[in-house]
Amino acid sequence: MNDFLFYSPTEFHFGRGAENAAGECCRALGARRAVICYGGGSAVRSGVLGRVEASLREAGVDYREMGGIKPNPTDDRVYEGIELARSFGADLMLAVGGGSVIDTAKAIAGGVPYDGDFWDFWEGKAVMQRALNVGVVLTIPAAGSEASGNSVITRRDGLKKISLKTPKVLRPKFALMNPELTFTLPAYQTAAGATDMIAHILERYFNNTPATLVTDALSEALIREIVDVTPRVLDAPDNYDLRACLMWSGTLAHNGICGTGVTEDWTSHFLEHEISAVYGVTHGAGLAVVSPAYQTFMATHHPARIARLAHNVWGVTPTGDDKADALSGIERMKAFLRRIGMPVTFAGLGIEHPDIPLLTRSLHAHKGNPVGNFFPLTPEDTTQIYTLML
Ligand code: NZQ
Ligand code: ZN
Repeated sequence: MNDFLFYSPTEFHFGRGAENAAGECCRALGARRAVICYGGGSAVRSGVLGRVEASLREAGVDYREMGGIKPNPTDDRVYEGIELARSFGADLMLAVGGGSVIDTAKAIAGGVPYDGDFWDFWEGKAVMQRALNVGVVLTIPAAGSEASGNSVITRRDGLKKISLKTPKVLRPKFALMNPELTFTLPAYQTAAGATDMIAHILERYFNNTPATLVTDALSEALIREIVDVTPRVLDAPDNYDLRACLMWSGTLAHNGICGTGVTEDWTSHFLEHEISAVYGVTHGAGLAVVSPAYQTFMATHHPARIARLAHNVWGVTPTGDDKADALSGIERMKAFLRRIGMPVTFAGLGIEHPDIPLLTRSLHAHKGNPVGNFFPLTPEDTTQIYTLML
């Protein structure tokens, strides 16, 4: 097991009506002026935005709003938000939504106290030292951004979708999580969210670090529960307890606990970020296509870990042949993904003629050569994996 620093200081308020604590949580941080970010309208329609505003008013916290943030959020909204937050004198960014809204709020939070271009941080030209406080009212369990120090933004000029990882500075100070808010999620978004959670665990599980038994056991148990609960949520979208299980799984999948003591990988996410940057697909659905293809490649090149996953998560009986067991596990994973309505090919994502040379070129331009730790990928390997998605 590797030495590690586990830092997960977010204060979670979990349960019915959690969003009503927004004002009190802002005040506890000394905030007086908040910019509220939200998405394309679901937060307005469900009434959660109104309740959050009322809570802020009651606590004496003034606010401005920035709505209309789209999935796979782009840099233009971040520049706009930085201007708004500066002119208003904001001392806190409050995200009401999912990963796209939270990541935009985080990027604004980091950009406000910085004299240069906020994108410097994403390009690795500067290290983010300070940011406004960030609070979250979560409406979709998926990206895990409510508990991560990361923010994923797409630069429209050049279509670069880049994840900035800050160990500490961008971690939300509080996350308000009411499972009832997720009843309105379309089935596709629920399923894509669950797929993203599984991928977050697998990015950590696919490692070469010895003696990580506790972390492995945690990861396998969490994936098993997500696999069990997701179809039941889709069958009963208003079931509070099932929604609650899924919501908390999304946080545990990405708050770092499943990565303790291991050297993480993240190659599947890098492969997917290129796809969603170019084709604008839902991130979790993109991962449903990437993850089985990535594992199929690994079944040949590095099979033991994929076989372990097959045995401990997908219920494959060990045969002594790791590659065969790995492939059986991948088939079961694909069956699960189909069952919850996820695509498993480019065509299923609506991409009939993917530009694989472009995706490969962009990935290595953004992430170097080779890419990844579990089994470092050359451009030839990357092309093979993208080809497996056809
Ligand atoms: O915009 P609205 O109208 O709110 O609709 C959203 C959006 O269309 C809808 N939605 C959210 N809550 C809803 C709802 N619809 C009905 N009822 C509700 N309660 O869901 C759609 C997707 O929202 P989005 O925020 O894009 O989803 P998600 O949380 O999956 O975030 C995806 C983004 O997060 C990034 C992804 O790359 C992608 O850009 N990620 C961020 C990470 C991080 N910061 O740590 C890690 C992840 O790996 C991921 O890369
Ligand atoms: Zn993800």
